[in-house]
Order: sequence, then structure tokens, then C-alpha cells
Amino acid sequence: MADLYQLRSTPEESLDCLYVLQCSGSDPLSKLEIPTKEKRALKAKAKALGPRGEPGELISGECPIDMAHRITFVGVGEECELSQSKLRTVLHRVMRQATKNREYQIGLAVPVRVHGMSEAESRLFALREAAVADYTFDHFKSKKNEFDKIDGVHIIPFSGETEKDLDEHLQATRMFRTSVYLARDLSNRPGNDLTPEALASAAKEMAEEVGGLRVTILGLKELQKEKCGGILAVSQGSAEEPKMIVIEHRPKKPKKSVVLVGKGVTFDSGGISIKPSAGMGWMKYDMAGAATVMGVMRTVAELELPIKVVGLIPTAENMPSGTAIKPGDIITLASGKTVEVDNTDAEGRLLLGDALHYSARFNPDIVLDFATLTGACVVALGHECAGLMGNDRELQDRLATIGDTVGERVWPMPLYDEYFSYLKSEWADMKNAGSRWGGALTAGAFLKQHIPEKVSWAHFDIAGVGYLEDEHNGQPKGGTGFGVVLVSTFLKNLLK
Ligand code: BES
Ligand code: MN
Ligand code: ZN
Repeated sequence: MADLYQLRSTPEESLDCLYVLQCSGSDPLSKLEIPTKEKRALKAKAKALGPRGEPGELISGECPIDMAHRITFVGVGEECELSQSKLRTVLHRVMRQATKNREYQIGLAVPVRVHGMSEAESRLFALREAAVADYTFDHFKSKKNEFDKIDGVHIIPFSGETEKDLDEHLQATRMFRTSVYLARDLSNRPGNDLTPEALASAAKEMAEEVGGLRVTILGLKELQKEKCGGILAVSQGSAEEPKMIVIEHRPKKPKKSVVLVGKGVTFDSGGISIKPSAGMGWMKYDMAGAATVMGVMRTVAELELPIKVVGLIPTAENMPSGTAIKPGDIITLASGKTVEVDNTDAEGRLLLGDALHYSARFNPDIVLDFATLTGACVVALGHECAGLMGNDRELQDRLATIGDTVGERVWPMPLYDEYFSYLKSEWADMKNAGSRWGGALTAGAFLKQHIPEKVSWAHFDIAGVGYLEDEHNGQPKGGTGFGVVLVSTFLKNLLK
């Protein structure tokens, strides 16, 4: 049960097990921030057990100090500097082992570093990964998993780390855990449960719980009034009413204004340009961008950031029916630009076009959008990073750097003007789809047409990272909550 889970720096009683990560040929205990006498006892124990730090090695014994009943050395291999996925996978193995052994109170000592991260960043990454390793989505299971869960992870401080540092890290980790789990839960909810209306309710609930946010829902009438022809077109084949969810965080005297836009297609069948049936069920995740925005808005409120941040979630269901949009139809988006619908499966950009235009009324300095937008992006980048496009290199660089240091990577992709020519229409201002080539980029080029002037904009195509069809490199199957930590950190850094 999630609320039982606690992160503590000082155990209240003896831990069931202390896990110590170890790379070969190094002494993982030397940097532990514990009294010399205890350290000496641990070192003697390590000598007796003889762990070598080889990958896959798990060596346990009785723990010689009061802190824990048992101690387990976890081998990570030769390098003390690991890739993100390697550390993530090792931590998941630890958490699984602990669950299996019914060790509910465990300690974690992580004296390793992640490629591209400082020691402190590595510590934070490890903390977060350990904190989210117990995620399951059992809402629809009659039998819940709650008894198999670890309810306390205690982080053992390292040299140079004060109790105060650690408390701050733990607090940040707790906050991220709640927001990432919110995003994952939303992503994992199936289309019949998480309709556009249910997504709107979830936004209101979240806002009520965390406080300080204002939520406004635009329904059919308001969307018509705002001339959101893209959102209306996408939803017109569905029985579900479309919405635009507006979540506002408006502090007094804000330093900046940022709008976050998230694609909220609660199910994408493709519409009349229907998708093949194999794997269509994955398209319940087509609102992962919306989930990211919800998660970030939660942390923004919790941190009470002195920045105006507005979350915009255009949400609809893309279905085929007698009332659905058809290939060849010409529609007008909120920006006034006309679009020939070449393919009803390229629906995300239609919805986002409206929302991006709508963002202008909040006078944003920066607009970021998150969308499971194209299969082409998954072909290009797989599941290791999101595709990043936009109109401001400096902004992209900043986002990429933060992504590297928090373990949510993004990689820049080009938006040369030429890509827009792929969308040339005989009859309208643009088509909504080009040929197969450069599919992630033509989608980005489409969005660019609807960005308000003088706004720094970045587009995250999270089709490959927002959800996973299988457990992958220590990441869970299903919704990942990708972007919550990256964007929250980016917003916090704007104040520097
Ligand atoms: N939601 C899909 C993109 C997607 C594909 C997300 C695979 C996650 C995994 C999007 O609406 C879509 O269908 N895009 C089309 C665009 C094409 C018709 C121009 C695509 O990528 O095939
Ligand atoms: Mn689609
Ligand atoms: Zn879609």
C-alpha cells in the first residue's frame, strides 16, 4: 500500500536487511557515514563473507551491527560508474529480493555513480528509482498485492552528506514518487474507465488534494466557442464529449509564465483510418502526455513555485463511426488555419494544434508539449529517450542536460522549414500527415504552425518512453510517468 511506504534517514528499529551495492575491487563500506566502530565490524563481516562484486552476485549474512538483522552485498560488476538502466535494474532486483524475503524494512547503501551524473545526482537518481520500484497497477484485480510490499526504505548516508541534505532528498523523492505514480496510474487506466470526462475529474481531484491550483473544464459548447476545430473533429466519431482541461498555478508576482500541453487521447483507434487490431489496446496510453502534465502540475503546486504554470490538456477519444471525420475532410483549427485530414490516425496534432494556439492567452515565455505523437519516433529512438523538437536550441540544450542528470533522457531532432513542405495540401493550408519519411519531424513541423509568436517552444514526442509494452531496463510495463521529474526540475531551475 503506497501510503505505508516510507523513506527515512534514521531507522526507528533494526532494519530487516541492509543492502550494499558493490563493484568489484572496491570497498563499498569505506564511504558509509556511520561510526568507526560499526564500520569496522561491517568490514570484518564483509571479509568473512567475501563478496566480489560480480554482476548478479547476492551474498547475505547476519549483520554484525544493530542497524539491521541481515546484510546483503549486491554485485554490480567491474565498473563503479554504471549506466542508468544498469543501476535501475540492480535496484529493482534488490527490491524484488527484499519482497520475496519479506524484508519490509530495508536499508540501501549505493556507493556508485551513473554515467553523466555527479555523485549527488546519482544518489538522487538511485533514491528515486528505489522509491518507485514497488509500483503495480492492481486497481482492477480482485486480489491486491498490498501484503507483498516493502513499507520502508532507509537510505544510508555517505561521506559529505549531512542529515539535512538527506532529509531534503527524501522529501523531494517522496513528492516525485506521488506524482510519478499519479501519472502511471492515469496512463494505465483503460479507455472505458479513463474517458475525457474521467480525466477532467482526476484533474479536479488532484487539485483539491494538493491545493493551490485552479481547474477549469471547457466542454463541447466552450470548445465550439473557442473554435477548437481540431479537438472537435477528433472527438466527433465518439460518444464521449471532448474537453479541454485547464490547470492553473498562479502565484502572486510570478517570475515567468510557462504553459505545459499534454496530448489526452484516452483511446486512439485510428478513427476511419483504423489501426490494425493487433496491439490496438496499447492505444489506451495515448494520454501519457496528459499524465505527464498532471504529474508536473502536482509537483509545481506542492513546491509552490513562484512561476505561473498552466497545464492544458485537450482530451478526446478517436473512434470510427458514422459521425467520424473522414480522410479528405477539411477542418479549421483555433489558429484559423485550415487542415486537410489526410489520415484520421494523425489525430494528436489536431488536438494539440488547438491547445498550442490557446496557450497564447496565458502570455507564456515558454511552452512545452508532451505527446505520444508518432510511431516514427519510436522507430528512430526506441525506448531510451524522448524525441525533442522545437524552435529554441538553447531551451532544448537545457532540457537535454537536465534529462541526462535525472535519468529521463531527451534527444534533439531537427525541425527544418523543409519538413513543413511534406505537408503541402492542394486544398487547404496544410495536410495533417506526410509520407512515411521523417514522420516524427513532419508531426513537429505541423505543431510549429500553431505556436504563438515569440514563444520558446519545445515538443516532446514520448511515444517510445511514455509507456512500455514490456518491462524494459528496469522500467515497469505500462505507463512510466516519463517527464515528471525532468520538467519539475526544469521549472525549479528557472528560478536560478
Ligand atoms: N498515438 C499514435 C502514435 C503512437 C504510435 C504512439 C505507437 C505510441 C506508439 C498517433 O496518433 C498515430 O497514430 N500516429 C500515426 C501518424 C501517421 C498516421 C501520420 C503514426 O505514427 O503512425
Ligand atoms: Mn493516431
Ligand atoms: Zn494518437
